[in-house]
Amino acid sequence: RQDKIDKLNKHKALSELGGGQKRIDKQHANKKLTARERINYLLDEGSFEEIGALVTHRTTDFGMQDQIYYGDGVITGYGTINGRLVYTYAQDFTVFGGSLSETHAEKICKIMDMAVKVGAPIIGLNDSGGARIQEGVRSLGGYADIFYRNVQASGVIPQISAVMGPCAGGAVYSPAITDFTIMVENTSYMFVTGPNVVKTVTNEEVSSEELGGAETHATKSGVAHKTSENDIACLEDVKQLLSYLPQNNTETTKKLEVTLKDEIRDVLSDIVPESSTKPYDMRAVITGIIDEDSFYEIHENYAESIIVGFARLGGRSIGIIANQPMAYAGVLGVNSSRKAARFTRTCDCFNIPLLVLVDVPGFLPGTDQEWNGIIMHGAKLLYALSEATVPRVTVITRKAYGGAYDVMNSKHIGADYNYAWPGAEIAVMGAKGASEIIFRKEIAAADNPEDKLAEKEAEYANTFANPYKAAQRGFIDEIILPKNTRRKLLKTFAMLENKIVERPKRKHGNIPL
Ligand code: COA
Repeated sequence: RQDKIDKLNKHKALSELGGGQKRIDKQHANKKLTARERINYLLDEGSFEEIGALVTHRTTDFGMQDQIYYGDGVITGYGTINGRLVYTYAQDFTVFGGSLSETHAEKICKIMDMAVKVGAPIIGLNDSGGARIQEGVRSLGGYADIFYRNVQASGVIPQISAVMGPCAGGAVYSPAITDFTIMVENTSYMFVTGPNVVKTVTNEEVSSEELGGAETHATKSGVAHKTSENDIACLEDVKQLLSYLPQNNTETTKKLEVTLKDEIRDVLSDIVPESSTKPYDMRAVITGIIDEDSFYEIHENYAESIIVGFARLGGRSIGIIANQPMAYAGVLGVNSSRKAARFTRTCDCFNIPLLVLVDVPGFLPGTDQEWNGIIMHGAKLLYALSEATVPRVTVITRKAYGGAYDVMNSKHIGADYNYAWPGAEIAVMGAKGASEIIFRKEIAAADNPEDKLAEKEAEYANTFANPYKAAQRGFIDEIILPKNTRRKLLKTFAMLENKIVERPKRKHGNIPL
């Protein structure tokens, strides 16, 4: 009987060791934790239950039958984060470079299926040399099995990808489909084709870091929603992100118990400058409204003319979309529209109410924008907000001009409650541009055209550059003092808590992609 126990312990010890101590040391020397260390850090202490620790690959080509490692390059299982059930897998770079074999993929698919059945989030910790080269198409099949499941699980359970090492070739498409991708700075990279192929095909010389490192994807491509300084910071980011999300699409995020105080926030009174062309930091408005230290920004350094992120309001998880006057005056462009549209859909599928803060002078003009399809990309945001059924509240802090007024969660596209601050300017366009068009003849005929323009501009601004016309029509529900914004929003979101909207049955809409 002792024999049997010894045998089990031996197998378990081997599986714990992954690809062996030498490779573990190399992993540490490269400033990376091992797969097991990552899982242990991510989950509540002692909560991890491993599934399939003794799985091995089935390949016999290239002498692979003599290279058997328990677990086959990925550790899979379940555990808890702050008491909440999650499924997780961590690719083990010490076993065949974490490359994905048929059985490696089967292990991931098994826990994905369980996560969907049970309705719990899945977190993938990626660190892999890609398809297991010795397995050929079987490995590619394994990837596709995962991608297919990523798509079926999309909008059902939260899926979070941490990229903590290489993630190249087809492998990138799993993180790309999941809800969030967090990359570790300097030790991770993602690309469809690596620097060598790039050099051969396009003759460009580019390093892995420049082509697909964390900074590149956080600033240029938007593939990374967030970057973290190192493995530990990345796992902390995952935990924090999870706290804003529900277990699945049939639940809402648990409301934290908070004692409400300082509901009147005087700090909000002085943020917007007197001059309507002067920039200010919309982040100050966000922090002025939300619970202390609760903002979790997504895509912080990408398409910066719009800010998106999670926050808490009276302990309730909300998603915030806000124009940023500090970057390109807060205009909507191709990337900012896509960024906000994607965030809208993420919040909507996981029942997270939306707060939209508006200070938008319009869409970004120019051939670059038009030729890159601002019409189609702007439509994404319009579409995403129009179809969102979560509670949706708008606050216009200053400008809401033209088509961008409609797009930024106007009443007309289904927003539930729309506020404006007293200095809001809600009109078809700015006073100067408008006057130049509609009073052109009058201005040209005047003795002093410049004075006439100024006079007409003032007349137009007086008539339209305010929130009152919109309030008269009911397009704005209430004009509020900035300092009262938090108090009003606490009440509004509480009032909207049980909002239900039924849509006509259809297979799916056809969002412009
Ligand atoms: N299939 C099978 N084994 C792989 C592998 C793969 N795709 N990628 C890496 N490995 C193995 C290596 O043979 C090596 O094995 P060893 O420990 O027995 O020597 C181990 O993983 C570590 O790889 P190594 O190249 O030493 O690590 P590195 O940090 O220097 O480089 C990569 C990492 C990912 C850049 C490099 O391994 C690589 O280019 N891999 C191939 C990538 C690829 O083309 N994948 C297929 C297309 S998707």
